[in-house]
Amino acid sequence: MTGDTPTSTGLHLGHYVGSLENRLRLQREYDCFFLIANVHAFTTLAEKPGEIRANTLGIVKDWLAVGLDPETSTFVLQSEVPAIAELTFFFAMLLPFNKVMRNPTLKTEIETKGLGDSYPFGFPMYAVGQCADILAFRPELVPVGEDQEAHIEMCRDVASKFNQLYCGVGNRVAAEEHVQAGGLFPVPRAKIGRVARLAGLDGVNKMSKSLGNAIFLYDDEKSVQKKLNKVTVQADAATGLVPQSHVLLQYCDAFLLDARAKEIRAMYAAGGEVMHGHVKAELGAAINELLAPMRARRGELEARPDKGDSLVLEVLKRGAARANSVAEETLYLAKEKMGVALGRRTLGFAG
Ligand code: TRP
Repeated sequence: MTGDTPTSTGLHLGHYVGSLENRLRLQREYDCFFLIANVHAFTTLAEKPGEIRANTLGIVKDWLAVGLDPETSTFVLQSEVPAIAELTFFFAMLLPFNKVMRNPTLKTEIETKGLGDSYPFGFPMYAVGQCADILAFRPELVPVGEDQEAHIEMCRDVASKFNQLYCGVGNRVAAEEHVQAGGLFPVPRAKIGRVARLAGLDGVNKMSKSLGNAIFLYDDEKSVQKKLNKVTVQADAATGLVPQSHVLLQYCDAFLLDARAKEIRAMYAAGGEVMHGHVKAELGAAINELLAPMRARRGELEARPDKGDSLVLEVLKRGAARANSVAEETLYLAKEKMGVALGRRTLGFAG
């Protein structure tokens, strides 16, 4: 189980190496749930619902373009799964307020997005909501980038606490054994991607649309190369060398064959004349080769009469039905454990 917040019209390379790659692999082995966190998008875009809608459609198109398969996996539109909202309220009681406010991922977001102290109540609330996104589907694994680890940790706390309070699981039972010991929720593990944190083109921050330092999966060939060409390469004043931590070298590790990345690293370590332009061209070619099939599939979708929107909405509607059948069951079982269940209920679209 994992998800993306629709704050941009498409996903970027950081999403790809951090999570999408794992999803592609895992969807062949596991029953997967991929969620569009459109309710969370309102934490920063409440005044622009049209943008959230457009971003949602765009991201699902990227999922399809990358190869996530709605036939074998469930695409979940968060706002269509009421059990998530209901579980959020119960879970909020299991987390100390101050612990949520100290969550390092939230703190970083407040800084990098310049939220100051004017963020809405719902902003820290989304971290609690994310526990419900995950636990509604009772998953084992959550493929995410490193930045999400604090959220997964909170989710593990909630799952353990719930199992201990309402399912009689002892305090000493190991996380992996909660279900065996009678717990409703498996205590899920984060599965970090091949590249835990991909730096953005600025070489400082994590790649992110809001910081304008991203290469998007649907960027055309020329823009990919142009963006790379703009990366500044400067030798360190003290050593006279381009530092091995430089973002270009990180990209070499991420997108070139290991042996070639090592060669380029050695070249930079040795000093001498390195043609940065050549390295950038090599990287651009490798990234474009990776992106070409995705770009083509997204292009095909966008070329449909309504830009593929109706197809996406159809996929989301089918996904909602499947998601609700699982999440409703979880909610019912959770309410039963808490002693507030009266009976099962049914949900569905009227038309
Ligand atoms: N917060 C995640 C992000 O911004 C998106 C997300 C929402 C998520 N719900 C989730 C990720 C549940 C994993 C599991 O990237």
